[in-house]
Amino acid sequence: MNENWRQICDDYVKVTSYDRATLDAVWEGRSYDAKNRPETYLTYPDALRRIPLGEPEFPEDTASLWKVFAERRSKRNFLPEALTLNELNVLLWSTQGITADMNGYKLRTSPSSGALFPLETYLLVSRVEGLEPGLYHLDVKGWALEALKFDPEIAETAYSIALDQEHCRHAAVTVLWTAVLPRCRAKYYERAYRYVWWDVGHTSENLNLAATGLGLGCVSMGAWYDKQAHELLGIDGKEHVSAMMASVGKVGGDWKSDRRAPSPEAD
Ligand SMILES: Cc1cc2nc3c(=O)[nH]c(=O)nc-3n(C[C@H](O)[C@H](O)[C@H](O)COP(=O)(O)O)c2cc1C
Repeated sequence: MNENWRQICDDYVKVTSYDRATLDAVWEGRSYDAKNRPETYLTYPDALRRIPLGEPEFPEDTASLWKVFAERRSKRNFLPEALTLNELNVLLWSTQGITADMNGYKLRTSPSSGALFPLETYLLVSRVEGLEPGLYHLDVKGWALEALKFDPEIAETAYSIALDQEHCRHAAVTVLWTAVLPRCRAKYYERAYRYVWWDVGHTSENLNLAATGLGLGCVSMGAWYDKQAHELLGIDGKEHVSAMMASVGKVGGDWKSDRRAPSPEAD
């Protein structure tokens, strides 16, 4: 435990703040070479299996945007039913799908500070038709899943990483987003350490809304053991860090009766 945490956190807020009086001086001499910026896309050429996702097929009878906003609720009462691969594809497209090309920057369904896209998407898949349970990574550019590890007990890993949150045991998929800091830091320096969290907030909300539109349940998670997550993914936890989690699946029953188990009032 770091006894000095409050001072460190105050310093973080201070050092990442913009101040009109000092901003020009802070930025003097800094440069950013957009053409030679850090690589935007991470892929795993040695993946155990590559599953091309193709174009998602959108359901024709989706609720209106306004109804989706009104109906979005964090839902954790997951059923033991599988998602279809297309449902997963629609969810992933809604969070990170490439939708435009602008002067060498490929833009996505989620906004990103400076269009730098520091996020990576990892999936702990328990029940998706056509996918063996295990750990997967989303290859955004090639729009495919890369199987990194097959593991029938992957839901237990999700549960254990996410501070033993019971719903992870029952979710069809638990998403673990990470941020590759140099992509954002090369341009924004200390401010990048704010931007990446904002990026992931936008992306996770897209997941929540897309899940609602598909009639699925979704819950975002800010509570997980960072080190354990980094070890699972084989990332260093410094330049490439865990950023947020979310669980998704088919749901049943009343969401009110299934707030965060085992103590509903703790929610
Ligand atoms: C950043 C963030 C972190 C959260 N972390 C968790 C979590 O770790 N576990 C959980 O069950 N819910 C988590 N939630 C969901 C909140 O508990 C939920 O959004 C809140 O109770 C409001 O309920 P609603 O989303 O149904 O409107 C998180 C939500 C956000 C935005």
